[in-house]
Order: sequence, then C-alpha cells, then structure tokens
Amino acid sequence: MERPIGVIDSGVGGLTVVKEMIQHLPNESVLYLGDDERCPYGSRTTEEVHQFTMEMVQKLATMDIKLLVIACNTATAIALESVVAAYNFPVIGVIVPGARASVNSSTSHKIAVLGTTRTIQSEAYTNEIKKVAADALIYPLDCPEFVPLVESGQYQSESVKEIVHERLRHLEHADFDTAILGCTHYPLLEHHIESGLPNHVKIISSAMETVKDVERVLSERRLFAVKEAVAEHIFLTTGNSKTFKTIVEEWLALKNPNVQHIQLP
Ligand code: DGL
Repeated sequence: MERPIGVIDSGVGGLTVVKEMIQHLPNESVLYLGDDERCPYGSRTTEEVHQFTMEMVQKLATMDIKLLVIACNTATAIALESVVAAYNFPVIGVIVPGARASVNSSTSHKIAVLGTTRTIQSEAYTNEIKKVAADALIYPLDCPEFVPLVESGQYQSESVKEIVHERLRHLEHADFDTAILGCTHYPLLEHHIESGLPNHVKIISSAMETVKDVERVLSERRLFAVKEAVAEHIFLTTGNSKTFKTIVEEWLALKNPNVQHIQLP
C-alpha cells in the first residue's frame, strides 16, 4: 500500500476536506483521525486545543503518513506552527487556503467569517485575509451551536434550520458579499447557512482550496501515489464508531468504510 495522507480534525468536520480529496486525488489513500470524544475544540482553552492537536499528530506520525492536513480551523489557528516545527513531513492547514479563496471570491473585500469561538478569538482569518487584501473589512461571527448539531448527525434535519438562521441574524446589518465557512464542520450545514444569508452572498469553504495546496505539495515533493494505486482509506475516531461510520457513508458515499475506534493518551 502507498503511504497515506494523514488528515486530522476534532471530529467529522475534516471529512468535508476528504470529500474533495477523494474526488480530485483518487489514487491517494487517506488516514483520518477525528477526536470526536473531546469535540468541540472550539469552546476549549488554547492550551487544550494545542495539547489535543499534538496528541493527534503524534498518533498519525507513528503510522507513516507522507503529508498531514490539519483539516480543522481551530487546531490550525492554535497549533499549526508547533506541528510544522516538530515534524519533517509537510503540513497543510485550512486557514491560509480559506482566506485566499474568500479574497478571490469577494469583489467588495467585505467578508463575513463564520467559525468556532476559539478560531474567531484567535483572529487568524482576519490576519490572513489582511495579508492578501489590506483593505478588507471583516465581519467575524462565532457559532458555538453549529458543531454539536453536526457531530450528533442532525445536520440534515429541518429543525436545525431555525438554530442556524437565528445565529446568522447577528449579521443582518452587516454589508458583505462573501461568507467563509471557517470551520470544516459547517459545509454539512451549508444549505441552511445559504438560506439564512442574503441571496447575493457567495459562500466559500476552504476544502477545495486546501486540496489544491495538497496537490501542489505532493507534486513539489514528488509524493504522488503511483497512477495504478488503489486508494485505501482508514478512519479512526476516539468517539462512537457507529455514528462516525454513518456520517462517512452518507457524506462520502463510501460503502462499508473502514472505521475504527481508538484511544489517545
Ligand atoms: N472542525 C473544526 C474547525 O474547523 C472544529 C470544530 C470544533 O471542534 O469546535 O474549527
């Protein structure tokens, strides 16, 4: 088997990045780790997010990954630099690609950023967006209710629509043309987010842009799997493997995926 690409998230959110990866890099195998047991990270302290992220990376580092994607905005905001400094394999976060995509999409450079409390408080998006567009006007909004709705598998239910719309009402007086889903769980709620924002607003998820970075780094480092390689994906979760498996089957349309429960230290 080819060496896999490691992907981590606090839970199932990183699957939104894996979905794009499977579509655009079909020969690549993914080794996914979701820390569902300790999710959500977004309402935890900076120290906890840092420690939990390092524990996840440590686990995947023992499993011969060739590249790591931190498919979690919260973990990227807090721990990307430490992970890059500690390991030899290439590491890609989701915030720089997401910030770049939002600036490319926005004509007014007025951009709403939806994210977890920890991500919004870190101001990582504001800083990255301003590096690309110094004139940008950012409207940050933390949405602490969203991740638990996704983790519990309720993201398709109509009843969550009101909760999502209620939160988005905080942006009702803001004038922006682009909204970035600054949490990888949010694309699973995208239909509700879309209907809760004005029609002209473009919604950006960092998933596709992140996969472009993965492709570039694989090419630069000559790490692509061989063309004949048959991808074998493995999904590890610290939480309930049954719930996780259902979401993998629904979201990635994979039949009988290899989902295993693991414990972190
Ligand atoms: N999916 C994660 C993110 O992108 C984390 C959500 C959470 O655990 O609060 O921020």
